[in-house]
Amino acid sequence: MTTTTFAPSTDKLQTFCDLPTAQALPRAATFVAGLVRDRSFLSSYVLPLLDEARGAGRWYVARCWDGPDRSYSLQIFVWPPGTRTMVHDHSSWGAYACAAGTIFEERYERLDDGSRFDHARLGENWHLSWNPEDGASTVLPGNDGIHRVGNPYEDVAVSVHLYGPRTNALDGRDYDPSRDYVCDRA
Ligand SMILES: [Fe+2]
Repeated sequence: MTTTTFAPSTDKLQTFCDLPTAQALPRAATFVAGLVRDRSFLSSYVLPLLDEARGAGRWYVARCWDGPDRSYSLQIFVWPPGTRTMVHDHSSWGAYACAAGTIFEERYERLDDGSRFDHARLGENWHLSWNPEDGASTVLPGNDGIHRVGNPYEDVAVSVHLYGPRTNALDGRDYDPSRDYVCDRA
């Protein structure tokens, strides 16, 4: 993974990523939805990944631009066919948009009261396929953004994700709904 300074839009990201979540998240969604329609961004950063990813067996983060003091993190995810994340949440808000191919997202809610350590009972709220013209999906921190993202289709997919400031030291949590399990992700 390569981490660099995102020169063209650093100032723009910095202006809204420090805002309260309710104000920052719509701006983040607009930003990533615009980025995946930006031809220069697509030709510079996305199209080269489509060839690179054909031999990959796992999803991965190909590029990452972090703001100062973790004020934001802009990441490009690559999804070879048949790959998906665990069910997980984030300790920050996030907005993402599909830049190539099709992304499949499942969204969950907590059905338990959170009182038992390592225990989480989940129910699926919805699932959706996202294409580049569909705009951005957004998640709130913690229980309000439990999801799984992947690519069950036959072509490589690429997505662009913008995360806001972390609300605690952890990156988020991983879930195993088959055994009602949750654990912190380092
Ligand atoms: Fe996520």
